[in-house]
Amino acid sequence: MLDSFGREVNYLRVSLTQRCDLNCLYCGAACPDTAELTADEIEILVRAFAGVGITKVRLTGGEPLLRRDLPEIAARIRAISEIKTVALTTNGVCLAEKACALRQAGVDAVNVSLDALDPAVYRRLTGRNALSQVLAGIDAAIKAGFRKVRLNAVLIRGENDAEAAALIDFAKNHPVDLRFIELMPFSEQGKNDALVVKAAEVLQRFPFLTPLPSEATEGVAKYYAAPGFRGRVGFISPVSEKFCASCSRIRLLSTGEVRPCLAYDTAFDLKPFLRDETRLRQEIEKAILAKPAGHAFGCDYGNIHAMNKIGG
Ligand code: 5AD
Repeated sequence: MLDSFGREVNYLRVSLTQRCDLNCLYCGAACPDTAELTADEIEILVRAFAGVGITKVRLTGGEPLLRRDLPEIAARIRAISEIKTVALTTNGVCLAEKACALRQAGVDAVNVSLDALDPAVYRRLTGRNALSQVLAGIDAAIKAGFRKVRLNAVLIRGENDAEAAALIDFAKNHPVDLRFIELMPFSEQGKNDALVVKAAEVLQRFPFLTPLPSEATEGVAKYYAAPGFRGRVGFISPVSEKFCASCSRIRLLSTGEVRPCLAYDTAFDLKPFLRDETRLRQEIEKAILAKPAGHAFGCDYGNIHAMNKIGG
């Protein structure tokens, strides 16, 4: 359906848990063990969202692979006829053993967070010595035959900005798209503007990246090609180039709340209406109509929350 600003909202991000097995500098969250929606409840809710025009679902967290019922949840969502795409965002730590089951369950695409290729840098950023597990996860995902495997990297000046070259080299040698996401203000680091490495700066460092026509661009990333690369290099720039005007997203949290916008605490609790289809639909429509025109990372830190709560 259209929101109050004429934007078509067709993309639902579902956070399955607030728990996470990493503790990344840019997320800045404790990982509370709050009550989580069950697979049954998630199916009821996603069906209701499908009824108002959602066609694409991304499963996220926290770390969604910490839910043992993830393949079942994915399969149930994939079986909803209006839902054309089911994607997953994961830190990749437990992906190696789950990739095939997830592909079989109908997951179309997987995004894996990969912020460094140096094990010590990875460990400092994420709090865990898990780089080799993540690389095995990426490998397994490529072999499992997902339509798309993407890597997300957040650069923090002085922490991992020197990893950009190695990450780009990784994209050169693997059939993946690598996207640099500008650091958003969700943790102490993120609130320090000086630590944000903007897309323009990375592009200046790697002049061989050439812009692809915008038809080649899906979603919010701008993509670049380079000679001899198997994958593309993309930039998601929520700080230097807001994409609110074309935002098509709405977020369902693991607690059953809907968040109209990543940057604001406004929430609508759907749990009381799980058994009332009409009311559920009304509440979802209310949440979509509550999407703000936009937000301004970089000047408004009033409503900051941790990334694990709302879903990456
Ligand atoms: N800024 C930018 N991106 C972030 N992510 C998590 N926290 C931040 C932040 N503060 C990204 C991670 C992950 C995705 C789920 O969200 O790169 O891949």
